[in-house]
Amino acid sequence: MAKSQNPLIAGNWKMNGLLQPAEAEIKQLTKFALSVKNLQATLVICPPATLLVPMRGWLRDARAEEVLATGGQDCRAEDSGAFTGDLSAPMLKDAGASYVILGHSERRQYYGEVDSAVCAKATAATASKLTAIVCIGETLDEREKGAAEQVVARQIQGSLPDSACSTDTVIAYEPVWAIGTGRVAAPADVAAMHHHIRMLLAQRFKDGGAFRVLYGGSVKPSNAAELLAVPNVDGALVGGASLKAADFWAIAEAVA
Ligand code: PGA
Repeated sequence: MAKSQNPLIAGNWKMNGLLQPAEAEIKQLTKFALSVKNLQATLVICPPATLLVPMRGWLRDARAEEVLATGGQDCRAEDSGAFTGDLSAPMLKDAGASYVILGHSERRQYYGEVDSAVCAKATAATASKLTAIVCIGETLDEREKGAAEQVVARQIQGSLPDSACSTDTVIAYEPVWAIGTGRVAAPADVAAMHHHIRMLLAQRFKDGGAFRVLYGGSVKPSNAAELLAVPNVDGALVGGASLKAADFWAIAEAVA
């Protein structure tokens, strides 16, 4: 566990969520979160960008801004300009976000995002006072070839700016073969990789020991406690199981 920071449980809704069902789920989630006195985790939902502004209103109405934060799922490195379809970090901030997921494997796969692009986005995000959740992780092919640690080392080197620090950047280790597949990495493998990531962060950054390093990939209520108990796992990035308030809350409650 990273010293002195709460575990972070972040939900990545991906391209899911229309106004009405989303409002009901967020209201339910705020009810859960407001019902406990000392929440041991920081909670973030990263909905599609169309829901950021409505979410700000729902959280305000429920007086729940302190217990649930919002984030974007990507941003461009530039602040504004002729980039049809894209969103900038200042726009996410303006819409109420305080986090942004960057370099998710789906962005890397479908949009050809490379480490240097992720790094530029992380620089833009933190300049706009967004916490960057930078995703890394090997494919099945890379793991089977025994190259997982090398791939992750390259991604950490290339995707994080030198200016990154533990208060503005979070790492999410998501083995690509575990995302949306129901196939979870074995706790021993998670432990080995998170230890490796911790060493890499400590070598490069003064406060490398304090970065939060999340695990992601088929995290659900039934496996959350075991995964969150693994040394150097400081939270989770949750896809499918974040869409239902009850499931996401059960994962948050699994924080010891
Ligand atoms: P999953 O997705 O929990 O549905 O596997 C995780 C992610 O892509 O962040």
